[in-house]
Amino acid sequence: MKKAKLILDKDFAIGQIDKRIYGSFIEHLGRAVYGGIYEPGHPLADEQGFRKDVIDLVKRLQIPVVRYPGGNFVSGFNWEDSIGPAENRPKRLDLAWFTTETNQVGLHEFVDWSRKAGSEVMYAVNLGTRGPDEARNVVEYANHPGGSAWSDLRIKNGAKEPFGIKLWCLGNEMDGPWQMGHKTAYEYGRVANEAAKLMKWVDPTIETVACGSASSNMPTFGTWEYTMLDECYENVDYVSIHRYYGNPTNDTPGFLARSMDMDEFIHTVVSICDAVGGKKHSKKKLNLSFDEWNVWYHSNEQDKEIWKREKWGPALPLLEDVYNFEDALLVGSMLNTLIRNSDRVKIACLAQLVNVIAPIMTRNGGGAWAQTIYWPLMHASVYGRGTALRPVSESPVYDCADYEGVPYMDTSATLSEDGSLTIFAVNRDPEEELELSADLRDFGDLRVKEHILLHHDDVKAVNTEEHPDNVAPVAGDTGRMDGGKLTITLPALSWNVIRLEPAQ
Ligand code: AHR
Repeated sequence: MKKAKLILDKDFAIGQIDKRIYGSFIEHLGRAVYGGIYEPGHPLADEQGFRKDVIDLVKRLQIPVVRYPGGNFVSGFNWEDSIGPAENRPKRLDLAWFTTETNQVGLHEFVDWSRKAGSEVMYAVNLGTRGPDEARNVVEYANHPGGSAWSDLRIKNGAKEPFGIKLWCLGNEMDGPWQMGHKTAYEYGRVANEAAKLMKWVDPTIETVACGSASSNMPTFGTWEYTMLDECYENVDYVSIHRYYGNPTNDTPGFLARSMDMDEFIHTVVSICDAVGGKKHSKKKLNLSFDEWNVWYHSNEQDKEIWKREKWGPALPLLEDVYNFEDALLVGSMLNTLIRNSDRVKIACLAQLVNVIAPIMTRNGGGAWAQTIYWPLMHASVYGRGTALRPVSESPVYDCADYEGVPYMDTSATLSEDGSLTIFAVNRDPEEELELSADLRDFGDLRVKEHILLHHDDVKAVNTEEHPDNVAPVAGDTGRMDGGKLTITLPALSWNVIRLEPAQ
């Protein structure tokens, strides 16, 4: 049996985890909103038309923040279309996804939904087809107490109290030629700076997120960040980055190593932020908002067919990836990567939340169920709070097409205020279990409270409405503690959550 080692120590702290790294994303895209969170007439819809079964699944994830309303959608969106009596709202062509947007769910409804789901809204403004003027107006509408045209309109529309939206995205993926209103880095940097400046004059308590690269493989990655930050550094608080991975060649070891790219991506963007800060002699440090990340490739071909058949239809079933077991393992490693980088990554959003490349699926008029990737997100969000610890680990390694020296064991660890310790570990080995020996002497007398294990013999296994628990967590072996040393087995291809608590 292969062996891996881990040393954890209270003094090897990465820092306090910002709970917003367990955020998610709802875009007006496909069936995320219509048929996802909102389906009036569904037997489980509440008085506003929100599906209660979906809210229950979201609540179990304890999602602290949800990015909204896009995504590519936002770059052609008029936020004013989404307020006032629903029957008066216009239907618009959405050029991002070639669908028709009915605007039946808008700003007020989404704020209400997110409160029901126990979450906060992270709102994106349109810096594609629009600019600083519309951006400052929506901040005034949402956050100003009253006595101005926009804030009084919010009150007239039924919300006496301001929404108090704290986090604002300055557009979406403006480096991408597919984006409506695509800009050069300099053009974007100027617009983002002016928009953020005006938005913060309206409400100085908000935080703003500038668009970094849409992916680490964009040709402009690096120069984009440097050039745009040179223009807007002092008025922004976070740099947004996005990354999706796929396994189209069916190379599981190579696919499971992709989190190493995510790690490098984070380190490079942090370095560029600090380089621009250094050049400007700024005392301010920018952090990252990894506000789109996931596996995305299963639905690509299907989407082309949908557009051939039904372009411009409302709520087309787009980006409906059905996730398998190996996807859940990569999502687990991506969560480990976020935890290990939580000193600089303060916000992250699994993209997306319902139906569209999502952990939660629904059928119109039918059930709602958890996809495979739901589980690692839930475990990290619920048990991965507190202080992130720097794991000092040793693991056997393997080579694959894009990486050498990929550790079979990928791990992260968190320490809660009550002294409980959680170890998250993926075993990437397709053949063999790993015997993990963890030195935990610094924590005194601990006992294993629980070992949660996600494993399936078939890496392509999925969950469906009929078989929602095909890939679901079970109790794993709790190993043995001996003088501050834990010895425990990580089965071949597995996601493990080892929860330890002080032994009383
Ligand atoms: O999440 C799906 C899409 O991916 C988003 O709209 C866009 O920002 C990204 O390209």
